[in-house]
Amino acid sequence: MRVFGIESSCDETAAAVLESPLRVLSSAVASQIQAHQPYGGVVPELAARAHLQALPRVFEEAIRPVQGGWQSLDAIAVTQGPGLSSSLLLGLGAATALARRLNLPLIPVHHMEGHLLSLFLAPNAPAPEEVCPALILLVTGGHTALVRMNAPGEYEVLGRSIDDAAGEALDKGARLMGLPYPGGAEIEKLALGGDAASVQFPLGAPDGEEAVRRGGRYAFSFSGLKTSIRYHLQKNPGGSLRDTAAAYQAAVMNSLLTRLRQALENGTDIKGIACVGGVAKNQLLRRGLAELAGQHGINFHTVPMAYCTDNAAMIAAVPLLRKLQPAQTPPAVNPNLLLQGLQLR
Ligand code: KG4
Ligand code: ZN
Repeated sequence: MRVFGIESSCDETAAAVLESPLRVLSSAVASQIQAHQPYGGVVPELAARAHLQALPRVFEEAIRPVQGGWQSLDAIAVTQGPGLSSSLLLGLGAATALARRLNLPLIPVHHMEGHLLSLFLAPNAPAPEEVCPALILLVTGGHTALVRMNAPGEYEVLGRSIDDAAGEALDKGARLMGLPYPGGAEIEKLALGGDAASVQFPLGAPDGEEAVRRGGRYAFSFSGLKTSIRYHLQKNPGGSLRDTAAAYQAAVMNSLLTRLRQALENGTDIKGIACVGGVAKNQLLRRGLAELAGQHGINFHTVPMAYCTDNAAMIAAVPLLRKLQPAQTPPAVNPNLLLQGLQLR
């Protein structure tokens, strides 16, 4: 089976072609970062306009290297959410048109499931049976969750953030420090050589009934961190930004690692750990995970950098890894309606 994947949930326009057994034939991504940078974050209207302009070009780029071209495809997979409604609508619209034109089934995909299955995209990636059950930190600009993956399609969310996402905390912290959007990579760069012990930021690992009710047993919280850095910067106007960045980055990553460590101590059957999503590019987080895996004698799986941030290869991978029977009816073009009942468990 050969699948054309489409992703447009936020500020990346992407298309990719994958076939089974899982192999990436092409993956094209057009980033809009520059368009949004002057505003310090993603502007939905700008994003929608940029998707509209980029989609035809990205589609062409994705199909060009594929032998057999459009006629060799068996299905179209498209991100249906979560994401910005206006951005999603453009991808869904283009996907619907393409599916009708080629008379192919259209498969709606959950963006976060795409991130989880990005774990299997590298040419030398292990098979799901070798990896699962695994504990995965799903860390993006919009979501933070600790997920137990038993197999592709079988997920259990053990914890999620009760407020901001880890990436959002990095982006907002970066903005307060005067760094450009998106802030995660900028903080990582600035933090090099900084003293992570210079500021004590709170550990975003809330306890108590309310936190458990809202975020599960391994709930995360990052809004306090954001407030702390604001106060810290106000109180220390001439302080070292390098040290602050190092301490802030360490606080975000330690909060993620703490929850993972706790879950590992309670889950004896876990074969491996991993991080996926944009924040998974972070070297401090990767080093922490590698260390944790070493301590527990289990595997640490990494995702190539290009597949950490939003891409369409991870979207096309979902039906292939799940061995889904493509639904014959294209979904109605309404991401909000489509999202209902399709949240990760
Ligand atoms: O997965 P992604 O591309 O988009 C969403 O689905 O949200 O993740 C984007 C997030 C942003 O918050 C960005 O600051 C963060 O990933 N990010 C990083 C790094 N590179 C990107 N965070 C930490 N370290 C990095 N090197
Ligand atoms: Zn994403």
